[in-house]
Amino acid sequence: MREDKCIINNYIKFKKMKTKIWSLTTRISHWLLALGFTIAYFTGENEWQMNYHYAFGALAGGILFFRIIYGFIGSKYSRFRDFPMSISQQIEFLKNYFSKNTYVGHNPLASIVMISMMFVGVFTAFTGYLWATETSQFLGFTLTEKMVEESHEIGAKLFLILVFAHLAGILADTIFHRKTGTLASIFTGYKNVETEPENSNMLQKIFSIFWLGIPMFLAYLAFGLPVREGENEREQKDDDEWESLLYPDKNSERRPINITLKMAKNSTVDAASSASSNRNIEPTIAVSGDNYSQPNYQDNQYYATQNQFEDDEHEKNEHKREHHHNNEYHKKRHHDEDNDD
Ligand code: HEM
Ligand code: HEM
Repeated sequence: MREDKCIINNYIKFKKMKTKIWSLTTRISHWLLALGFTIAYFTGENEWQMNYHYAFGALAGGILFFRIIYGFIGSKYSRFRDFPMSISQQIEFLKNYFSKNTYVGHNPLASIVMISMMFVGVFTAFTGYLWATETSQFLGFTLTEKMVEESHEIGAKLFLILVFAHLAGILADTIFHRKTGTLASIFTGYKNVETEPENSNMLQKIFSIFWLGIPMFLAYLAFGLPVREGENEREQKDDDEWESLLYPDKNSERRPINITLKMAKNSTVDAASSASSNRNIEPTIAVSGDNYSQPNYQDNQYYATQNQFEDDEHEKNEHKREHHHNNEYHKKRHHDEDNDD
């Protein structure tokens, strides 16, 4: 009986009539949430963006937390009890998807996606907070770092999947139930239906101030959370990969591979010759790990060989320059003396 009543209540009469479905706060919070989620999702991997990640993540989490409360005390179409979610409603909805009968508030499938988004979003933001603050105890439970990390990452991925499902649902609705004007409703608040409008009472209006205000304050506080140095795991992994190339034997005392460049004794390197293909250099590259009996890092063979060469060149050039400078000086002096005479 209740089901029938629900469907009849939500039945749309396609007249040229608009009814207010979403309050202004619902719409503002929706777009703040979309912004918060999007920025949080794309800033979670870079250490230098972490403060923004915390702030926008907290904004999204805070908005969803208040949306959950609004699900109990909110206006019609926003209350959970108005969400048609029973199995029979799901079946009914899917069977008649392409007919004109549809729902004013969230349809049965959308209701599941919306509620899931609310709880998954709050969960994700909360686990992010636990991760950022390195909390290891919560409600008497001991939390390992791995547990918190995995929860946050899984929550974020699940949230992303739900957002895609949400967007797919809106797209399908826009194509197959175009006349309802669902897409436009999240901007204007109105759907093209004739039914009972949403009317927020005083309590709901006061609540709206907290719904928008507190998440913004949380975002401000979260922005100031200290970011741990080297926090980003992925960056760390990249560093580790590079390190494992340089230090192939993990058990060794971080001895790097020795790269020995030996120059032939009679080599001459200058700008012109280095550009030409017949350079008189015989580079020999010797690569050794820890097990080879090659000289190690301390021997500085690479530096010695190359630096020696560079030093010689440098010295020669310095010498030439000094010589040239002295000549010039003497020439000038003789010239001045001649003039004096
Ligand atoms: C990117 C992140 C987004 C998130 C997390 C998100 C989340 C939500 C949530 C939680 C609701 C329920 C509102 C309520 O009952 O108070 C909702 C409704 C809605 N959203 Fe989004 N949204 C996102 C993006 C978008 C975008 C990009 C569009 C439009 C192109 C959109 C269009 C809508 C519409 C039309 C509704 C009302 C649906 C209905 O009447 O059943 N959303 N969204
Ligand atoms: C609902 C909002 C949020 C979303 C969608 C989100 C999403 C993400 C994503 C995708 C990552 C990258 C995970 C990876 O490396 O695979 C991440 C990492 C992280 N997030 Fe969030 N996050 C949210 C909220 C928060 C909040 C509110 C905080 C803290 C106040 C937070 C703290 C962190 C921390 C500490 C990391 C780890 C960075 C690292 O060391 O790799 N997140 N988040």
